Amino acid sequence: MGLKVAVVGATGNVGREMLGVLAEREFPVSEVHAVASERSAGAEVSFGEDEILKVQDLDGYDFKGVDIALFSPGAKVSALHAPRAAKAGAVVIDNTSQFRMDPDVPLVVPEVNPEAIAQYEKRGIIANPNCSTIQMVVALKPLHDRARIKRVVVATYQSVSGAGREAMDELFNQTRGIYVNDPIVKEHFTKQIAFNVIPHIDVFMDDGSTKEEWKMAAETRKILDPEIAVTATCVRVPVFIGHAEAVNVEFEQSLSVETAREALRRAPGVSVVDHRVDEGYVTPQEAAGEDAVFVSRIRRDPTVAHGLNLWVVADNLRKGAALNAVQIAEVLAREYLSSPSATPLRGRGG
Ligand SMILES: NC(=O)c1ccc[n+]([C@@H]2O[C@H](COP(=O)([O-])OP(=O)(O)OC[C@H]3O[C@@H](n4cnc5c(N)ncnc54)[C@H](OP(=O)(O)O)[C@@H]3O)[C@@H](O)[C@H]2O)c1
Repeated sequence: MGLKVAVVGATGNVGREMLGVLAEREFPVSEVHAVASERSAGAEVSFGEDEILKVQDLDGYDFKGVDIALFSPGAKVSALHAPRAAKAGAVVIDNTSQFRMDPDVPLVVPEVNPEAIAQYEKRGIIANPNCSTIQMVVALKPLHDRARIKRVVVATYQSVSGAGREAMDELFNQTRGIYVNDPIVKEHFTKQIAFNVIPHIDVFMDDGSTKEEWKMAAETRKILDPEIAVTATCVRVPVFIGHAEAVNVEFEQSLSVETAREALRRAPGVSVVDHRVDEGYVTPQEAAGEDAVFVSRIRRDPTVAHGLNLWVVADNLRKGAALNAVQIAEVLAREYLSSPSATPLRGRGG
């Protein structure tokens, strides 16, 4: 007995990782469908070690009979097709920014607010947060539980895979181009990304911040606590996979470095690597391919009454996207879709 799962955006960075994570974690599937645009219809993608799936065109794809649809085809495409999938009876877990702030759509990180999954019945859609938000809230949750967070100041160092396949190609091609004296071609990023850093992710907003920075603040409040103040500077760096964050946290109550370290050690999904010696911390290169959110460089911020600094690193394609979505699917499968009566959305009129 398994569930019928559709992966929409299956040829992309996140979609491929989703197929990999579903297979690795032996998610109970009866059938898996790979879905993408008409451009890749008929192409093949791997599911686990020995299964090959033929990609189907989303426009003509019928979601009837699908239990869970894992979406990552971009916000505009999700806007159009996720409600269609939900109407056909699938529970959609959407990785794009489209539904994250919809009050009728839960925004979930299973280590932080798994109880919110129950709200899926409202629209048949669950949103996966932004990659930078996910890793930060996993690290903040155990600290918030101990000493209540007042304010967070974060600077991110985000890899190019967070911007999709073509962005990874752009870093590769520019890097090679520099060595062989070819002209630098900029298509995806606004400035040269090879051997550079760019303080601009997503569009600019009226107040001068970028949408990525706004997302980190708004999503953290929705997932963790609406009272927390967050200010972010989001920066793209020439790393292929793995996001890093320098996080400054101010608390209501005192929290020693030792207590924070112990709380983080016990927290689900967190791995503390903090040795205060050469190589005693984690970098994105080491986090790539791993499931954990790594926390290093835990130290007191002496400029405020109760403050700590942390260095938080995770694989943005795994915990920042595919793994988080599959973990949500696991909770859904286990707690909401496992009994015969627990398919309330099947055949729903909208
Ligand atoms: N990368 C991350 O770290 C990350 C983290 C969290 C959330 N996300 C979000 O997840 C989404 C996908 O990201 P990605 O990195 O996987 O991008 P990507 O590598 O560029 O892949 C995009 C995927 O969407 C499909 N697609 C595009 N237009 C489509 C259409 N009209 N109909 C059906 N499928 C379509 C593509 O299929 P074709 O091959 O047919 O073009 C491809 O499978 C984005 O919204 C992104 O913001 C990404």
